Amino acid sequence: MILFLQSLTIAAVTLTFGAHAQNAFSGAVGFGAIATGGNSGTTYHVTNLNDSGTGSFRDAVSASNRNIVFDVGGYIVLNSAVSLSSSITINGQTAPGDGIGIMAGEVSASGKSNIIIRNLRMRQGNLDSDTGKSAFNMGSASNVILDHCSFAYGQWDTVDAVGAVNITVSNSIIAFPIGQQFGAHVETGPSTFYGNLWVSAHNRQPLSKDDTQFINNVVYNYQAAYTSGNTAGYFSHDIINNYFIAGPSTTSASDAYYQMAADQSVYATGNYLDSNKDGVLNGAASNTVGSSTVLSNPWAGTSLGLATLTAAQAVTAVFDNAGASPRDEVDAFAVSTAQSLGTSGKIYTNQASTGLSNGGYGTLTG
Ligand SMILES: *[C@@H]1O[C@H](CO)[C@@H](O)[C@H](O)[C@H]1NC(C)=O
Ligand SMILES: *[C@@H]1O[C@H](CO)[C@@H](O)[C@H](O)[C@H]1NC(C)=O
Repeated sequence: MILFLQSLTIAAVTLTFGAHAQNAFSGAVGFGAIATGGNSGTTYHVTNLNDSGTGSFRDAVSASNRNIVFDVGGYIVLNSAVSLSSSITINGQTAPGDGIGIMAGEVSASGKSNIIIRNLRMRQGNLDSDTGKSAFNMGSASNVILDHCSFAYGQWDTVDAVGAVNITVSNSIIAFPIGQQFGAHVETGPSTFYGNLWVSAHNRQPLSKDDTQFINNVVYNYQAAYTSGNTAGYFSHDIINNYFIAGPSTTSASDAYYQMAADQSVYATGNYLDSNKDGVLNGAASNTVGSSTVLSNPWAGTSLGLATLTAAQAVTAVFDNAGASPRDEVDAFAVSTAQSLGTSGKIYTNQASTGLSNGGYGTLTG
């Protein structure tokens, strides 16, 4: 009897802990919110912008159980991809001045687990000679949440998440991919994309070959937006209260949903498509997702609770809040491009063509 009671107590403690573990930080949402990162670990101060060595970002992420803060702001120019360890938290919001950015190489969480990244700018660009790499790579990673991050100028994908399990990308900006000109690619999953701004990509916003929650996103100046690819299997998709806005590069506005055949099951409600490129937000409801099979209820139990904003409210919120804080030159350009509501925007082949300072990477003053 005593043993029985003890096991009940242990079960209760486990449940309570599980509930806490859903909060990587206050306001964390989606499947990646299970991450605890290095929150309870040692605090590591990044004290310089060097590629490597004591006090560098590369050194900071080289060991697990670290809570990483920044005593410097500005760009870290990578000489090669930087590989994160498992169980770390990266707090970009602690950086002074314009904040912290990583440029010229890939940030990789490949094969790692339990990672929280907030307010970090990841802008690969063609200063990275490896066109097979992405701005951020979490291939085969698990339990990862990226919140208020800014991704730009990815060459392979912007966010590569092939084989990734339990991931969230929230309140972030995924803009101006070059090279393949793709947004994000998820396989395995489940994945959550919540409150993000996607600007000027050819395709994969995202490519979801997994069970996905796609809620309160704004996709601007796409050629193809939400895509399943039709080839990798049977998946479920909750697509709720998103706004797709055509721009100058949009050749077929109905490709807001792309390669969504009957082998995909979709719960779609509250989505809007503004196809007329007239500089005014005046879209129409758009909840027929290709020839996918219609789900009458969301596949994920948390989806309806997450969808607190209408599509139009999401546009305002995303323009105001998405991306790393404080908002810098590249993100201001991404947002103003989207705010043109159809009249400006271009799919770039290199970052310099944006005309922004610092060869297109923009300037971050620490
Ligand atoms: C950072 O790099 C600069 C320039 O190469 C060098 O002078 C400095 O010693 C480096 N800092 C550390 C802590 O290694
Ligand atoms: C993914 O999250 C679920 C809880 O939602 C958990 O049971 C599972 O272990 C996680 N997967 C991995 C690989 O950690």
